[in-house]
Amino acid sequence: MYANESKASTRPRLTVPALRQMKAEGRRIASVTAYDAGFARSVDAAGLDLVLVGDSLGMVCQGHDSTLPVTVDDVAYHVACVARGLRSALLVADLPFQADATPARALEASTRFLQAGAAMVKLEGAGPKLEVIRFLAEREIPVCAHLGLTPQSVLRLGGYKVQGREQAAAERLLADARAVAEAGADVLVLECVPSALAARITAAIAIPTIGIGAGPGCDGQILVLHDLLGMNSGHRRPRFVKDFLAGGGSIEGALRAYAAAVRDGSFPAPEHGYD
Ligand code: KIV
Repeated sequence: MYANESKASTRPRLTVPALRQMKAEGRRIASVTAYDAGFARSVDAAGLDLVLVGDSLGMVCQGHDSTLPVTVDDVAYHVACVARGLRSALLVADLPFQADATPARALEASTRFLQAGAAMVKLEGAGPKLEVIRFLAEREIPVCAHLGLTPQSVLRLGGYKVQGREQAAAERLLADARAVAEAGADVLVLECVPSALAARITAAIAIPTIGIGAGPGCDGQILVLHDLLGMNSGHRRPRFVKDFLAGGGSIEGALRAYAAAVRDGSFPAPEHGYD
């Protein structure tokens, strides 16, 4: 391995306002997680729009059973690694468990992540998190909210389960989606919610939704990199996952196939969603 300059991406850097423009124009946002510079380079070369350094790194890189042990130092380290490999995609950094417990803590961690190369931070939940979203947005920190199945709530939820199936829960989720957008979030990740509900939320708010296990009606899709490549991460594989490397080819080919399938609407298929 030698330090030759690789072919730089010719795409302009994707910006936060461009994401909203994509929603307005009906162009789907293709996103994936990444945790190091090598994969970030492949993701960028494959033309993905948005890359998340998720706290899923606790499960797929560190071997934990949940995302709860992940620290701000861990995320900051991986954000810096990924940032070195990206030229065009917009980089989002996850605020790990309790790093967003107060506005001050969230500001401190988010500042570190932005200084390490992220362009946006992600946090789970609504309710008390609305104050945090507002606080960050007012301080020029772009925010991605995350509703539905929020993995940092695994202890309270009693497992990784589909959210919003009952009428009352669905209405609550819709209200929360409106609230996070109103508080200043720029993007909303919807995880493991019925496809019809995700489509309803997507139509109801001006900010783009990015689904994972939320059906084809979102403005974009995200998958954990290891799942997209069919890797054994030591955890049950959810039904919304598709192995894009299974058809053969290369890692970059799998990423290109995934991005194309998101953009032409062929992924997720009905069998990847929930009723
Ligand atoms: O941590 C993560 O990778 C995530 C995605 C699954 C959205 O939150």
